[in-house]
This record gives sequence, structure tokens and C-alpha cells, in this order.
Amino acid sequence: MEKQIEKTIIRQAELKDLKYIVDLSKKESLSLGFIPKMAYESAINGFRKGVPSPKRWSMVCNDKLFVCTCNNDLVGFCLASFGRVKAIYKTGKIAQICLQEDARKLERGKLLLQAVIDWGKKIFTFSFNAGCADDLESNFFWQAMGWIKIGHRFGISHKNTWVQTSKRKINLYSYDPNDLLMGLSNG
Ligand SMILES: CC(C)(COP(=O)(O)OP(=O)(O)OC[C@H]1O[C@@H](n2cnc3c(N)ncnc32)[C@H](O)[C@@H]1OP(=O)(O)O)[C@@H](O)C(=O)NCCC(=O)NCCS
Repeated sequence: MEKQIEKTIIRQAELKDLKYIVDLSKKESLSLGFIPKMAYESAINGFRKGVPSPKRWSMVCNDKLFVCTCNNDLVGFCLASFGRVKAIYKTGKIAQICLQEDARKLERGKLLLQAVIDWGKKIFTFSFNAGCADDLESNFFWQAMGWIKIGHRFGISHKNTWVQTSKRKINLYSYDPNDLLMGLSNG
């Protein structure tokens, strides 16, 4: 009898993955917040659609979208940014990371996050931030990954993403391999 060995792969998302990603993000909206389909599409294509004035807004989208597959089935995704292109010291951001429910707690989240961090190294983005609502189990994930809690903010309004009107507490996590505190927390 042939024994099947699971093959987990992290790769950049393609347009054919978009439906899966949007569906999962809607299902997990309480943990992930809302990001429009167009933003995922831009992270795949590398350009922003419908930008009103190229003088004010860059046509280039620097976000990247990654997916995790198991034996060729999609099981999760991660949307990340990698800092301003010309900045001397770039800080990336994990905007969303999600594994579908039946694929969790099997080290795939860890693999996905590590692949995104490794991708950042190639373009000299070594440090990252992430936000995680205080009421989510995922706080244990960021802590297990050695990320440092550096503060908190309040949730943003769904009408205006510049204002923090929600009472939901969002913990802010930081990953910086040069950080002395990080070394201490990792023992
Ligand atoms: C957060 C998430 C991506 C983690 O992925 P995962 O595949 O379940 O996590 P992993 O199995 O790779 O776990 C990595 C480490 O985190 C720990 N961890 C992950 N989820 C945990 C939980 N709910 N409770 C306690 N520890 C947890 C694991 O024990 C493991 O620790 P170890 O390396 O010391 O053994 C996944 O749970 C998820 O998609 N959650 C819903 C969406 C979400 O909340 N996203 C984050 C929003 S901030």
C-alpha cells in the first residue's frame, strides 16, 4: 500500500486563488477585518487599479499575497507589505494571515509566516509589525513566534480607516531580529 506524505508549499498567490482568499477572508472577518477584493488583486498584479491621480498615489502596489497549499489544495493565505521601496530601514507589515479552520495548529501558520519573513530578507526588509485583536486566540500564535507586544491601539472605523473609533483593543506586535528584547524573549 502506498503511504501518502503530505506536501505543504508556500508560494505567491495567483489570480486563480483570489476566490478562495476572498471567501476565507469573509468567513474569518472577525479575526481579519475587511480588505476589499481589489486590494488582494493588486497584491497579486503589482499595480493599483482605478487610482485617481498617479501624481498623488503611486500606481505601484508593494503588497504581496502568499498562499499555503497542502497536496495542491489551498489551506491559507498571508497578505503582507514590505515597507517603502526607497526607505533606508524598511519595516513590513503582516496585514492578514489565515489558515482555514481544519488546517490550523499543524505548524502551517509558522511555515507561512517564516516564508514571508524570508521573502522580505531578499529585498532587505528584516523587521515587521502586526496587529491582533486582544480577544483572539491568535495572540498565542504571535507570542509563540517570538513577536514582541509593543503596545495597542483601538480598532478602526469601517467607514474611515484613518480613525480609531472601535472600542476593540488591537495589540501591536513587532518582529525585529536586531531587537535586544527579542533575543531575551526567545531565551
Ligand atoms: C493564527 C494562525 C494563522 C496560526 O496558524 P496555525 O497553523 O494554527 O499555527 P501553528 O500550528 O503554525 O502554530 C505555531 C505556534 O503558535 C502556537 N499557536 C498557534 N495558535 C495557537 C492557539 N490558538 N493557542 C495557543 N497556541 C497557538 C502553536 O502552539 C505553535 O507554538 P510552538 O511553535 O511553540 O509549538 C491560525 O490559527 C489562524 O488562521 N487563525 C484565524 C485567523 C487569525 O486569527 N489570524 C490572525 C489575526 S491577528
